[in-house]
Amino acid sequence: MSETVLIVGSGAREHAIALALARSAQQPALVCFSNALNPGIASLCLEYGIGRITDPEAVAAFAREHEATLAVIGPEAPLAAGVADALMSVGVPVVGPTRSLARIESSKGFARDLLAKYKIPGNPFFRRFTSMDGLEEVLNVYANRHVIKDDGLAGGKGVKVCGDHLLSIDDSLAFARELVEHGHPFVVEEKIEGEEFSLMSFCDGVTLKHMPAVQDHKRAYNGDKGPNTGGMGTYTDADHKLPFLNGKDITEAQEMNRRVAAALAQECGAPYRGVLYGGFMATRDGVKLIEYNARFGDPESLNLLTLLQTDFVEICRAIVGGTLAEVDVRFSDRASVCKYVVPEGYPETPRKGDEVQLPEELPTNAKIFLSAVDVQQGKLIATGSRAVAVIGIGDNISEAEAVCEQVVREIPGPFFHRTDIGTDSVIAGRVDHMKRLRSA
Ligand code: AMP
Ligand code: GLY
Repeated sequence: MSETVLIVGSGAREHAIALALARSAQQPALVCFSNALNPGIASLCLEYGIGRITDPEAVAAFAREHEATLAVIGPEAPLAAGVADALMSVGVPVVGPTRSLARIESSKGFARDLLAKYKIPGNPFFRRFTSMDGLEEVLNVYANRHVIKDDGLAGGKGVKVCGDHLLSIDDSLAFARELVEHGHPFVVEEKIEGEEFSLMSFCDGVTLKHMPAVQDHKRAYNGDKGPNTGGMGTYTDADHKLPFLNGKDITEAQEMNRRVAAALAQECGAPYRGVLYGGFMATRDGVKLIEYNARFGDPESLNLLTLLQTDFVEICRAIVGGTLAEVDVRFSDRASVCKYVVPEGYPETPRKGDEVQLPEELPTNAKIFLSAVDVQQGKLIATGSRAVAVIGIGDNISEAEAVCEQVVREIPGPFFHRTDIGTDSVIAGRVDHMKRLRSA
């Protein structure tokens, strides 16, 4: 059967999804539905619909109109809005969980409760709140080591960490009060110390195929300074671990994903079909859970879909058909470094409207993914969010970083990127940090 695959979303993640589908031996037809045009995705698609991706009926109608045989949902908002449910109800199988299963991301309290109920290790202390009742008692116990999280999706703005954004108990009470006033439930949890990493797994509801571990960099500026962003860059290593992790950390993270997928199936009475993304912290006492996401990470997926060797259409088919156990999912044994090029002022007051000039030729071991860019009079114009992502591939992280940095530096204009991601000194710092924690 020749496939018509619908991609929902239009960031660099969805550009990477589109490219991975396009290089399949099955040569699927691609169509995209999103709220903005991504010229990179559009160049690979037969049809490109613009509309509200959180409107399940609109997405399902577009899928039917173009006779989609399969859909891949990129971002979290449509998953939380029930777009997978709507597509399935019109007979389109979906890589991406139903609204109920997507609560693993859309409700932080649901995720914590699930781990607790199914006795899956990895939770720090946590408590769910809908009012201020009992909050001060918890804050007194965890005075200098707590995190307050909006229970729902907040586009990265719903989490405040003590010592970072919350500098006193009064700050914490004020943030909690603001959440209560807006009618938002919230979670207070113990602040965990360690090194963060992401471990994503393809999941067909029963079988999981794990991807290599990745480290993201959420802060805007070098040295992990500045405001939080969607992610400024990521790296992976040739051995599919990360230099600061040991084999046990990887196994614990994989095991947590496996048990969470099984718990979700039991709790929701339906198989989780899509990508399960664990955001973890390696600590002196093993791996702890920061959060779960119900989708590919951005930028994590840019590294991983570039390194993916197995036919991506075959993987998607196996996810929706429950036959992932039969697929040999492989990633090349190379390292990768990804850096986002973003407008000056990003994320708070980004410049908009500047031309993004990409190099005419790329080295064979580099790739560029388009994100928040429009085309005007044949030129790429930055629209204010992360503009383009550059990936470098190499035999080790250092080599991949050099390739990535060389390409990024060829992109002129009022843009910036993090020059430190994937450098030897940053990696050595992470390794040192974990060594210190483990020997304390
Ligand atoms: P999230 O939106 O859940 O990814 O949280 C944003 C960031 O807050 C994470 O990337 C972590 O750096 C930090 N964070 C969240 N939960 C915790 C925790 N329990 N302990 C320490 N840091 C945390
Ligand atoms: N890289 C973080 C995320 O995709 O949520």
